[in-house]
Amino acid sequence: MPTPSQEIRQRAQALRDEINHQRYLVHVLNQEDLSEAALDSLKHELSQLEQEYPELITPDSPTQRVAGKPAEGFTKVQHQERMLSLNDVFSFEELENWGERIGKMADIQGGYYCELKLDGFAVSLIYQDGMLVQAATRGDGTVGEDVTLNARTIEGIPLKLKETYPGRLEVRGEVYISKSDFEKLNIAQEKVGLPLFANPRNLAAGSMRQLDPKLTAARHLSFFAYGVAGNHGLETHQEEHALAAKLGLPVEKHSQLCASLEEVKTFLSTWESKRKSLPYQTDGAVVNLNSEALFKQLGVIGKAPRGAVAFKYAAEQGTTILRDIELRVGRTGAVTPVAHLDPVQLAGTTVARATLHNEDEIIRKDLHIGDTVVVQKAGDIIPEVLQSVPSLRPKGAVPYRYPAEIMGVPLVRKEGEAAHYVDVSALEEKGGDVVLDELLKRRIEHFASRGCMDITGLGEKVVARLVDAGLVTSVADLYSVTAEELLGVEGFAKLSAENLVKGIAESKTRPLPRLLFGLGIRHVGIETSLLLTQFVKGVASLGEVVTRLREASLEELSALPDIGPVVSESIYKYFKNTREQEVLGQLVAAGVEPSQAQVAAPASVNTEKLRELFEGKTVVLTGTLSVLSRDEAGDLIRSVGGKISTSVSKDTDYVLAGEKAGSKLAKAEELGVKVLDETSLQ
Ligand code: IVH
Repeated sequence: MPTPSQEIRQRAQALRDEINHQRYLVHVLNQEDLSEAALDSLKHELSQLEQEYPELITPDSPTQRVAGKPAEGFTKVQHQERMLSLNDVFSFEELENWGERIGKMADIQGGYYCELKLDGFAVSLIYQDGMLVQAATRGDGTVGEDVTLNARTIEGIPLKLKETYPGRLEVRGEVYISKSDFEKLNIAQEKVGLPLFANPRNLAAGSMRQLDPKLTAARHLSFFAYGVAGNHGLETHQEEHALAAKLGLPVEKHSQLCASLEEVKTFLSTWESKRKSLPYQTDGAVVNLNSEALFKQLGVIGKAPRGAVAFKYAAEQGTTILRDIELRVGRTGAVTPVAHLDPVQLAGTTVARATLHNEDEIIRKDLHIGDTVVVQKAGDIIPEVLQSVPSLRPKGAVPYRYPAEIMGVPLVRKEGEAAHYVDVSALEEKGGDVVLDELLKRRIEHFASRGCMDITGLGEKVVARLVDAGLVTSVADLYSVTAEELLGVEGFAKLSAENLVKGIAESKTRPLPRLLFGLGIRHVGIETSLLLTQFVKGVASLGEVVTRLREASLEELSALPDIGPVVSESIYKYFKNTREQEVLGQLVAAGVEPSQAQVAAPASVNTEKLRELFEGKTVVLTGTLSVLSRDEAGDLIRSVGGKISTSVSKDTDYVLAGEKAGSKLAKAEELGVKVLDETSLQ
């Protein structure tokens, strides 16, 4: 058996302490400091360590007992049958391991009953001769709290069963709040200046443990039954659900009996995305052995039955170690702090870098290098570091602060701005500096990116090699690079060199708005570039476009719709800058000649129909479209008078969602924004 190092021992101890502390906060004090997903991630790390080094298991390990004392103020209730918890699995592999483990102990038959796992609060309901006589919380599993008065306020809980059921019947289930009620409550909290509820589970738990039932009633809680305790002659878990439903208890209706673990996996995959459109929050699914006899035979280990597991969908939050903070210089000179992390699996992808926004955020989060941090990745959003867990901080770690300069160039912060900038004037004086090269790389990356000149084969790595080799000193230089020159650069062979030259040449005719966006003028995104294109309408060549913009007065630019003083000044300065004029001149000389055509509509497009649908409407694009790129779809919608926005709000008219749409789609569904698919563009 492997012996753990001192460092691993300390880590296990620190994890135990932190998890116990967090559970105390949640269960006894009704407070939450870490999200459930982050806490799960810490628990998972601890149980992995314990699995690898069993000698680390201590009797007080959170993996060995159910924590949480009943709060003072409620009458204690002794459960006739222990209220168990479930072990979690986080992947198909862990699910299969479970299948194998129990397969060694018994002959598994009768299938698996799969049900969605509601994210709420467990309760036990006792019916005596069909009348609700008691409701209790789980508490520590053996002794819970009497919350009958609160439970009676929940309309989904029948006070009297639909059919008479003689004697005692104990129903177990989950109290939860629907997504829309949760939203409404938080809006109301905000209005009166009260703190918002972090998540529906917290709210359900907090509401059930109110001493005043009126407060519980105001929360509009709901209930689903998921099991019947005691011996009622039922042979399968499915029959328990059927009995509950027959007696008039609400039962979640998407449960399914699966014959094999393969079928279970299909159920799990199907619901991974589908669950997002349900009106209540689910965080996974419960996989039960359907046969009651088998379930009993396998027994209980610790706090959980062997015959069932909770499959948790890939958490969008997890914990990992912050190894370093890199200050990345963007194309405008703005500095972005990037966290370098030990790789962690989040929402199905490996995350090793995350954004930290700016120095204020680093200070607010009190980040130290070596900290255990909570990382979040929501849908297609860039992963971010949410917080650190100070109790797991290594000794001697120092808080991270920005240096005064990067590579010899001072970092400055402008009044009223959150970001720091590299002092560009200092850079220009120095010239050829490493930081200047970094800036140049960012500019070229942006110029070549899909939304701009869309140059195939010119990604981050290749850009770095071209700049480091001294082949390009501006975006215009790209157009004079030859295949022979590329052969002298690391990583290029004849074919790849020729392909890149071809890719660059092909970009010469990209539409004007994309070229303008690609220039990297500060504060000028694609929307402003479109406005500028309108402004120079009727001008034939790039040379004339440049002249027109160079001659534009500040007043003229400020008069453009939707352009404020900061943006117009930035455009004005850009076209007056000698260095930029030189680059623009080189682009013209290289034969860059934007196509006049708006984005060509696919042959099948019915423009009239499109106009009817999108004119005057605000649309958010998300996910991967198959026929058009997102930029092309955006251009098309704009061409018929629609507006593209990047975030979903109640002012959004449509969300147009392609494959693998993530959080924006979920948000649309949550806010009731109409969702269209790609066929609406045809
Ligand atoms: S079966 C032996 N089914 O998840 C425990 N639990 O992680 C039997 N939960 O304590 C639980 N939805 O509070 C079961 N459909 C469902 C559930 C469900 C939510 C909760 C329940 C349980 C916890 C276990």
